[in-house]
Amino acid sequence: MARITLGILTLYLNEAGAIEEKRIYEQMTRKGAELGMQVVLFTPQDVVSGQNKVRVHEYDLKFKRWKRVWTTIPILVFDRCRIQRTPRYKQLREFKLKHPKIVYLNKPIGNKWTMHEMLSQYSHLEEHLPYTRQYTDIKDLRYMLNKYELVYLKPISGTGGRGILRLERLSNQQILVQGRDLNRDIIQQRKMSLTTLSSFIERWNHQKIGYLIQQGIPLKLRSGRVHDYRMLVQRDGTGEWQVTGAAGRIGAPQSITANLHGGGSAVPMVKLMSNFISKPVDLKLVQRNVEQIGLDIAKCMEYNQYELCEIAIDIAIDKNGKVWIIELNPKPSREVFKEIGELRTYELAISNPIEYALYKFKQLDKPR
Ligand SMILES: Nc1ncnc2c1ncn2[C@@H]1O[C@H](COP(=O)(O)OP(=O)(O)O)[C@@H](O)[C@H]1O
Ligand SMILES: [Mg+2]
Repeated sequence: MARITLGILTLYLNEAGAIEEKRIYEQMTRKGAELGMQVVLFTPQDVVSGQNKVRVHEYDLKFKRWKRVWTTIPILVFDRCRIQRTPRYKQLREFKLKHPKIVYLNKPIGNKWTMHEMLSQYSHLEEHLPYTRQYTDIKDLRYMLNKYELVYLKPISGTGGRGILRLERLSNQQILVQGRDLNRDIIQQRKMSLTTLSSFIERWNHQKIGYLIQQGIPLKLRSGRVHDYRMLVQRDGTGEWQVTGAAGRIGAPQSITANLHGGGSAVPMVKLMSNFISKPVDLKLVQRNVEQIGLDIAKCMEYNQYELCEIAIDIAIDKNGKVWIIELNPKPSREVFKEIGELRTYELAISNPIEYALYKFKQLDKPR
């Protein structure tokens, strides 16, 4: 068999050429070698314009160091590019347009609203979605705060806990406002009336990006810190969806988001569930329920023509043990599992996409 190559597509983080998650890619290279597959790392900036040539980064397993190598652009690509507000992101779009023959392990998904609308078409998933609508003006605030004591306002296209507000109705006249700005900095908490809040949001949203307004799930632990769960669902070496694992996350003090990038810390799922759920529910059952939801979401994505090799789902479980779907993430990091010491899960999280890549290669070879 000719040498097969998987290209991992990423973006430089700065002018100096820093690349995130190189340790993970090093391990993916090792796994690839085990399976007889070469793994290389490249960014659109490494591609020679108008040619099929690229100067990739390749991890040399013998000398344990990254080196630069000229090669042809890989046919099979694992897209790990995260959104950047830089010209590099524009280059990425151009690269994809210029090379339409590349087969991707994963393609982009829709924004938070598109995904919410898709999931809500299926009653078995809809029942796990917090009530959500697109935010337009004070009418939506009034409606939501009338209906729910707790409400979240978040950018339709945001990531990493940026630009999210938590609004808690303290009385008919007073709302507690907490959150993070678009740079992810925690804003000082304050109390406001509905009218003040409405003009606060007008100012807050001066960039006029779209927002969602969503039923908030009360997730504060006794310590006052919020929590949630991160579940990773991946395709394996036979192309089938599997739940790789799930971990709990506890937000930083004063944070209204549990994202690890916002200073959160990871904890084993069962430990966190048994701490928080107050009803005498069977935790094993709740966990199985969470996993089933993960598989259902993966199948639903597939059914709706989203091409993915993995998806990470932000999950909330309330005091009664009810499971809520918070968000879908197509380009997850895998560190949560390492942080909680679930090393087997961590290994699987790294090896699954590589095994799936090999499966995909074999599919490409089959006569159509
Ligand atoms: N409806 C909600 N109720 C309670 N907590 C929420 C809600 N929505 C978001 N959060 C918290 O905020 C975090 C970030 O929100 P999320 O929708 O995942 O956006 P992002 O793309 O910024 O990660 C979640 O992981 C969760 O901790
Ligand atoms: Mg999230």
